[in-house]
Amino acid sequence: MTAQLIDGNALATRTRAQVAERVQVLRSRGVLPGLAVILVGDDPASAVYVRHKVADCESVGMRSVLERYPATMTEADLLARVRALNADDAVHGILVQMPLPRHIDPQQVITTISPAKDVDGFHVANAGALLVGRPGFKACTPYGCMKLIETTGVPLRGKHAVVIGRSNTVGKPMALMLLQSNATVTICHSGTPDLAVHTRSADIVVAAVGRRDTVRADMVKPGAIVVDVGMNRNDAGKLCGDVDFAGVREVAGWITPVPGGVGPMTRAMLLVNTLEAAERRTD
Ligand code: GUN
Repeated sequence: MTAQLIDGNALATRTRAQVAERVQVLRSRGVLPGLAVILVGDDPASAVYVRHKVADCESVGMRSVLERYPATMTEADLLARVRALNADDAVHGILVQMPLPRHIDPQQVITTISPAKDVDGFHVANAGALLVGRPGFKACTPYGCMKLIETTGVPLRGKHAVVIGRSNTVGKPMALMLLQSNATVTICHSGTPDLAVHTRSADIVVAAVGRRDTVRADMVKPGAIVVDVGMNRNDAGKLCGDVDFAGVREVAGWITPVPGGVGPMTRAMLLVNTLEAAERRTD
């Protein structure tokens, strides 16, 4: 069996088109949705990510502002900027790009962002809302993974989902979203002695560990949905995920590629969250 590809680029394109339509509705009511992105320091990968985020906003007719600061910026100055953006009515979403320089406490920054503008979904108020099943902003990567899984049409009720990774930004919120969809959820991590024991019984595997070849063909149940959040490089320097794609695609029922799977949907869900921040304020 060869798995069907879950096309993240195609879904992201459809998602952006829907966002663009809703942006036009808001604009016709005199509201221009706006995202503020803060980048501290000169990490080249982060610079690429924030450029994409800003360009994505423009592609759907939203406003975006990119503020760049040197790595020497103090935590106090960063918090002051965040508070100023909290108070700025033209800004609906605020994103502070991670990682931050080591002298700045990321939790302090995240909790200073107004939960109503926390389009990353990282604030404890939004993480807590997800935990108790209340409305709030959902973290973009796991939210995008849920949208990718939805395209398979497989009902999640009663299915066994295995999430590999327990980060606050992906693994934990991913597990909660799958639970909210009535899946039976197992969270595996670096302390799990035998990963394959869990993945072999999984109908859905979400790999978010940051280590290539973590999920191999002999670890996957035939027909399973495999979502690959990883972004790694192989020995030839080529982008690859956490899943041995060539092997697993012969066993799985559906699989997301890297690149072209989760990445484009993470970016698309940031637009959805920013749009919804503007819609909520307007309604
Ligand atoms: N760095 C890498 N991914 C992300 C993300 O989704 N949000 C923020 N704020 N920083 C990141």
